[in-house]
Amino acid sequence: MTEREPSASPADQLPRPDGEPIVRLAGVVRVHGEGPNAVPALRGVSLDVRAGELVAVMGPSGSGKSTLLNLAGGLDRPTEGSVLLEGRELRDLPPKRLAELRRRSAGYVFQDLNLIPSLTVAENVALPRELDGASTAKARRAALRVLEEVGLADLGDRFPDDLSGGQRQRAAIARALVGERRLILADEPTGALDTRAGDEIIQVLRQRADAGAAVLLVTHEPRYAAWADRVVFLRDGRITDSSDSPATEGAGGTDGADGMGVVSAR
Ligand SMILES: Nc1ncnc2c1ncn2[C@@H]1O[C@H](COP(=O)(O)OP(=O)(O)OP(=O)(O)O)[C@@H](O)[C@H]1O
Ligand SMILES: [Mg+2]
Repeated sequence: MTEREPSASPADQLPRPDGEPIVRLAGVVRVHGEGPNAVPALRGVSLDVRAGELVAVMGPSGSGKSTLLNLAGGLDRPTEGSVLLEGRELRDLPPKRLAELRRRSAGYVFQDLNLIPSLTVAENVALPRELDGASTAKARRAALRVLEEVGLADLGDRFPDDLSGGQRQRAAIARALVGERRLILADEPTGALDTRAGDEIIQVLRQRADAGAAVLLVTHEPRYAAWADRVVFLRDGRITDSSDSPATEGAGGTDGADGMGVVSAR
């Protein structure tokens, strides 16, 4: 991991990203179910995430965070409104094209990881590339590159069950990163991790954003949101607030006790 720089705060210094958004949600409404059972999960959400941006999504349980991520990555369709991924309106794509675009453009880290236990770590990470038509050898090379990026270079031939929780989480992130996807969607990827493991995950996501990806990160922890360029707050399916300069106090302090608190990610 990067050498500690006590003066660095997580979300300053970087110029504001501009240019076309990687993902654009405009007036998105998502209602689950119908009639008296209808549950409005999102009630008109508009959000752009550009290349180079790490956007944290915060809000109480049930406020629509996972729904927002699923829509942004084309895993779900809006009831109203539009979702553009790399400039393409998802509504207009036939299912096969949508699946292709999703695989190429969007990487997910799910709340429950979804690693396949019968595949090694490297095979898990290579899978999206193989599904996309890469040869086994090429997919494996790509997998090993991202495993190195997340600090798992030596563990590619282990099975998920033989890893610690933090290592499994990093493997799931590697799988989301493989193939240079432009949009990374991470739903509480720091889950139940301890602070050090959680910090490592956030740094990997931060570095990916700095390298030009758009990252949407759901988190309950101000400490991790402090690494974001922007924090979007959801409540009852609406964006209630959006902050450009998140508080940095939660980002790990500056006392150096844990050797991993605030680390310069750039
Ligand atoms: N498939 C579904 N069918 C019916 N209602 C759903 C479905 N998925 C989500 N909802 C409802 O939509 C609302 C938003 O759910 P969502 O999962 O997006 O919340 P969340 O902010 O991710 O919550 P958490 O922090 O608990 O993960 C909730 O009221 C939820 O019950
Ligand atoms: Mg959720």
